[in-house]
This record gives sequence, C-alpha cells and structure tokens, in this order.
Amino acid sequence: MCSKMIPMTTIDVNLVMFLLIIPFSVLPVFTVADHLFTFCSNDTGNYTLNSPYERNLKSLLETLPSITSLTGFNYTSVGESPDKVYGQALCRGDVNSNSCQACVEQAGQEIINDCRNYKDAVIWYELCQVHYSFQIMTSMSVYTGKNPEWNSQQKLLSDPQHFSGVLMYLMTSLSSEAAFNPSKLMFATGTIKFRNETVYGHAQCTRDIIPNDCQACLTTALTELKGCCSSREGGIIVSRNCNVRFDLYKYYNGSSYLLTYPSHKGSNWKIGMVALAVCASVVVIVIVIGSCIVCLLKKRGQQRGVERSHQALLKELACPRGVTMTDEGQLVSSEDLPFMDLTTISAATENFSENNMLGEGGCRKSTCTA
Ligand SMILES: *[C@@H]1O[C@H](CO)[C@@H](O)[C@H](O)[C@H]1NC(C)=O
Ligand SMILES: *[C@@H]1O[C@H](CO)[C@@H](O)[C@H](O)[C@H]1NC(C)=O
Ligand SMILES: *[C@@H]1O[C@H](CO)[C@@H](O)[C@H](O)[C@H]1NC(C)=O
Ligand SMILES: *[C@@H]1O[C@H](CO)[C@@H](O)[C@H](O)[C@H]1NC(C)=O
Ligand SMILES: *[C@@H]1O[C@H](CO)[C@@H](O)[C@H](O)[C@H]1NC(C)=O
Repeated sequence: MCSKMIPMTTIDVNLVMFLLIIPFSVLPVFTVADHLFTFCSNDTGNYTLNSPYERNLKSLLETLPSITSLTGFNYTSVGESPDKVYGQALCRGDVNSNSCQACVEQAGQEIINDCRNYKDAVIWYELCQVHYSFQIMTSMSVYTGKNPEWNSQQKLLSDPQHFSGVLMYLMTSLSSEAAFNPSKLMFATGTIKFRNETVYGHAQCTRDIIPNDCQACLTTALTELKGCCSSREGGIIVSRNCNVRFDLYKYYNGSSYLLTYPSHKGSNWKIGMVALAVCASVVVIVIVIGSCIVCLLKKRGQQRGVERSHQALLKELACPRGVTMTDEGQLVSSEDLPFMDLTTISAATENFSENNMLGEGGCRKSTCTA
C-alpha cells in the first residue's frame, strides 16, 4: 500500500501562512518555489541514517541537477546492490537550463527532508519532478497520479457549462501530440478559446517510457483532471511518468498552438443542415402549391377553352364558314363538321340551348335515345 505523505513541516508552514493570510487575503498560498506534492512510498522498506543507501542517495541527488539541465530529462544510478539508488528528474519542457537545474536542486533538498528513511519517493514542483528508488525505473509499471492540494485552491469558473468538453478536447489533443510526435520530446503545449477566455495547457511524459505507455498514463491523468478541475480556472495532475496542467493564463514559455473546438463547427454544420432542411421543405411546399395552382388554372383554362370551343361551334353552326347547303337545308360539306343535318343538330341541341352544348356530353339521355 502506498500513502501520500504531507510532511508536518509543510502543514505547519501552510497553517502559519493561512493564519497570516486572513488579514492579507490577496497573498497567494503557494509561492513559485513551493512543491506541489511529495509522495513517500512506505511499502518499499526504510533505509537507516548514515547507511550506504543514504550516502548513495545524497550523491545521486547532487548529480541529477546538472545532468538533467542539459535536455530537461535524465536518469542515473549510484552505488551497487543492495545499496544501489536509481534516480530520474524531469523538467517541464519549456523550462530553460538554469531554471531546470535550480528546480532539481531544490527538489533534491526537499525530498530528502520530506521522505527521510524512505527508499522510494517522488516530489513534484511546478517546473520539475524528481524520483528516486532502490528499484530500476526505466518503464512505467503502474499509474501513480496525484491530485495536489493546489487544485482546490483554484478559483471556480463563474459559468463552467461546456468547459469540460472544450478542456478535454484540448488536453486529449495535447496528450496525443506528447505521446506520438517524436519531435516534441514528450511535451506538448497548446491553447483553446472558451468564451472570452484562452485556456492554456500542457501534457508531458518522462522520456524513459514508450509512446503507448505515455498515452495510457496521460489518459488516466486526464480522467482525474476532469474529475477535480473541469469547473475550475486551473488544474494539475502529477504522476511518476506523466503530468497534465491547464490554466487561464500563459504559465509556460514559448509559442503555443491554438486549437479549434470542432463542436463549434459541428453546431454550425447542424444549423446549416436545419436551415437547408427548412429551405428544402419550403421549396417543396412552394412547388406543390405552385403545381396545384398551375393545375387548377390549367383545368379552368381547359374548361374555358371547352366553353370557347362550344361557343365557336355554336357560332359555326349558326353561321357556318365553308358550308354548302342544298336548297332543302341539307349540309353538303363543312371543314369542321361531319355531314349532318342542321335540323338534326338543331333538334338535338334543343335549338342550341345552353343546356345541350355539343361536345360537353350534355345530351340529355332522352334526346340522345330519341
Ligand atoms: C503504509 O501507509 C499506509 C497508510 O498510511 C498503511 O496503511 C500501511 O500499513 C503502511 N505500510 C507499511 C509497510 O508501513
Ligand atoms: C519507515 O519509517 C517510517 C518512519 O520513519 C515508519 O512510519 C514506517 O512504518 C517505516 N516503514 C517500514 C516498512 O519499516
Ligand atoms: C544524461 O546524463 C549523462 C551523464 O550521466 C550524459 O552523458 C547524457 O548526455 C545525459 N543525457 C541527456 C539526454 O541529457
Ligand atoms: C521564460 O523565458 C524568460 C525570458 O526568456 C526567462 O527569463 C525565464 O526564466 C523563462 N522561464 C522559465 C521557467 O524557463
Ligand atoms: C471574460 O468575461 C468575464 C465576465 O463576463 C470577466 O470577468 C473576465 O475578466 C473576462 N476575461 C477576459 C480575459 O476578458
């Protein structure tokens, strides 16, 4: 079993600071130099004071600052088994060589005080972390994430709705970048807009683990970050092999890549689709109504046309053009009409009454059958 150990000295200092802060509540609780968290592993045995293990540990902690400051990450070991001590240090990827070295030095002094007698311990600062152990540590065995007290001191967002989604989009992108982009040396920074704010974040792994382990470590860390901090203005999760952080101000040096939250595009796209659907329906309705109107007009036009032709026919019948009649009133020829007895037509239409127009099927059955 492992336990977190907050040393009494830190508690006392915090308590004193807290009491001091009451009248001066604008003062920050943590200064830049404060460590975020110390983890002294009590399940791995103790070393005794002035033992070879302690001497090797001190030597290791003196070596780490200079060898780490070259590239921001290194590991080494001192002594021989059973008193061999392994150690590694990691500086945040943006930190310059001098700041890195200073941080690792301070971490070494603090960890030996905080975890006296412990054969395995880790300490985290804003700018660096240091881990020593009696065991070799060149691969990730278990996730050892910590949610430092620092998080609960971050202000709550006034309106955290939708923040979690935006934050996780940023942090997930940075995690992939850190794990799988070899040029990044397992450290990625980036920003994203949230309302009128800019969210700054980073993801980082120790460079002794493979990309898939880095990704796995960061994924678990992000779950914790979401849990502790997705309604806060800042958050940090630290672990032996990875760490993640975000804030609403630029807390790191160097350029940062601005990401765009795709669900904005998504919602625009949705609005576009809805608009398109509405337009399409309107167009369809207009076409349907239009065709109905055209249909009706056409029908009425045809009816009128029929009426007109009836009238023309009647006119024709009354004053036939090109019709030759015999003296007896026999129709001899007509362009429009078959040979027909005018008297027959006259009779059939009841003397051309409106009720019995030709071509309208208006013949009364009685007349027709007569
Ligand atoms: C380590 O600490 C935890 C919690 O403080 C405790 O339950 C456990 O027994 C300790 N283990 C050892 C080996 O001391
Ligand atoms: C190691 O020492 C600490 C105190 O220095 C003690 O609390 C702890 O139980 C010890 N652990 C073992 C495994 O002896
Ligand atoms: C790590 O430290 C060794 C010395 O112990 C040094 O030769 C090496 O260049 C360092 N590696 C990096 C990546 O800084
Ligand atoms: C950030 O950059 C400034 C200017 O180059 C430098 O003074 C400062 O030490 C850097 N901070 C860190 C943590 O490296
Ligand atoms: C964003 O708006 C809030 C109030 O709506 C304000 O308190 C805050 O200072 C603004 N932030 C920035 C970066 O402008």
